[in-house]
Amino acid sequence: MSRLWLMAALATLLAACDQNMDVQPRYGEYSRAPLFRGSVLRRPPVNTVARDALEREKVATTKPALTPELLARGRERFGIFCSPCHGGGGDGNGIIVQRGMPRPTSYHSDRLLAADDQYFFDVITNGHGAMYSYAARVPPRDRWAIAAYIRALQLSRHASLDDVPPEERAKLESAP
Ligand code: HEC
Repeated sequence: MSRLWLMAALATLLAACDQNMDVQPRYGEYSRAPLFRGSVLRRPPVNTVARDALEREKVATTKPALTPELLARGRERFGIFCSPCHGGGGDGNGIIVQRGMPRPTSYHSDRLLAADDQYFFDVITNGHGAMYSYAARVPPRDRWAIAAYIRALQLSRHASLDDVPPEERAKLESAP
């Protein structure tokens, strides 16, 4: 009998424990602060700098050297984050556009051919018109990598034979 009581007591205790974990006392970010004027989520004090902000700023303003690794990374990230709308070739006919998203300007348009890398970096950071910002999903170094890959996509349709290294040229010329 005493064993039954013990089990009943344990069950009650454990149940209560579980409930405490589920419903913890906490503030909602935007609810009224009991101590300060305004909401619980405070504005950072003037002239404070967030941890990592300087490092991020440095990466954001320094274009990394163009390497095969950077391009490969850009290609991978472009495939994940951009091609659903911009299409694998950058024409702006990705699957989401085929399902109703407004069609973006092709990367092969004269205006975007003339844009610099910084412009692509900034569009990823801030969004553009109907396109939302990718700042939270694509870190600064990857933005440079994607910009570099977009340049490669553009070049793929505007390169001339003179851009091909001489030792590779013969291969192209003999291709069927
Ligand atoms: C959900 C769909 C979508 C995704 C994903 C997307 N974009 Fe866009 N993007 C658009 C649309 C739509 C526009 C045109 C917006 C407008 O003009 O209102 C656009 C415009 C652009 C432009 C051209 C801006 C101009 O001057 O016309 C660039 C550059 C661009 N996107 C780059 C990117 C890159 C890089 C990525 C990946 C990190 C990306 N986009 C991901 C939908 C998308």
